[in-house]
Amino acid sequence: MLGDKVTGIPNHELSNFMLKEIHEQPSVLVDIIEGRLSRDSNKLELLELNLSDQQLKSFETVLFIGMGTSLHAGMVGKLWFERIAAIKAESDNSSEFKDRNPILNKKTLAISISQSGETGDTLSAMKTAKESGATVLNIGNVEGSPASKFADHNLSMAAGKEISVAATKSFECSLLTLYMLAIKMGLARNSINSAAYNSMINELSKLPKMVTKILETKTQIEELCSYYYKYNHFLYLGRNLNFPIALEGALKLKEISYIHAEGYPSGELKHGPMALIDKNMPVVVVMSSDSFFSRNLNTVSEIVSQGGKVISVVSEDSDTRSNKADNVISIPKSSDLLSPLLTAIPLQLLAYYIAIKRGCNVDQPRNLTKSVPTD
Ligand code: BG6
Repeated sequence: MLGDKVTGIPNHELSNFMLKEIHEQPSVLVDIIEGRLSRDSNKLELLELNLSDQQLKSFETVLFIGMGTSLHAGMVGKLWFERIAAIKAESDNSSEFKDRNPILNKKTLAISISQSGETGDTLSAMKTAKESGATVLNIGNVEGSPASKFADHNLSMAAGKEISVAATKSFECSLLTLYMLAIKMGLARNSINSAAYNSMINELSKLPKMVTKILETKTQIEELCSYYYKYNHFLYLGRNLNFPIALEGALKLKEISYIHAEGYPSGELKHGPMALIDKNMPVVVVMSSDSFFSRNLNTVSEIVSQGGKVISVVSEDSDTRSNKADNVISIPKSSDLLSPLLTAIPLQLLAYYIAIKRGCNVDQPRNLTKSVPTD
């Protein structure tokens, strides 16, 4: 392998898809945004979505179903649809949902999220949703997949081919697609005024550069991992829109480094997980300076007072003097709503560098496959 000697690029950066796919995110985001935002009118157009505003407006409930990383995207989607489109929303793990007796009807829009479009549990959940009277919209990354054929409607996450078993760019693109869909639903339901719309769209156009800025901190994150890769247990904490991101960060670490990592809502800490806290249990607190920042500062202080080590993911404008975390990973300042699209990125890098330092195969982790067609 050429690596450091000749190219100056570390060996691992030449040899795996995961890092390549992490770094493809800004350009893929540009393509999606440019493809769905008309330049002149700044109008959001999801052209391939064959659901009219009238049809969108007819729904009274939105349900998100998925597995693994795709479920985490759906959990963010639920919160976005509640806050942006002011519609009743829920999310569920496909393998649990398919065995429920869900109370759905024709006014329910069931949104399945599946990168591969062949996850058996999600296909079964889509069938359960359709049999319960819901309209099924699939957000997928593979044209002609079983999920896209079964769904009533389709909207691509447009991530491009993703080889690494651990989902990274497909997660970011699922989130972007869900965010755009929530805005579209909000416009159809008149739940967002033009000022809020313009503000969201203007901020969205800056997203690719914000992600690039985060990727530029990879050396700092790699150095951090030189210290943390030896630990065998991690907790990830987040609130509201960043709770699913905490789950996703923990999943990424589990998947590729085989370290035991759990994600929790920050508020759950005192209801059990605090008993785990000691110097051997690093805690990643996802605390972009949103409306929950002060509560997350308290969470950090409580963990540090128990002898725990904290890595905090914060917005660059946050007041670090009051942040007792051992390590701070800064991300560009954003609205609360946009924060999941930013906080996910450093957690991808954290998992990647820890796994590399542990000598793990980041593209083909043991016991895992890119999709699980059986349910
Ligand atoms: C797992 C993948 O097998 O399935 C995860 O390793 C993925 O990355 C999960 O999130 C769900 O897959 P899909 O294709 O339905 O999004």
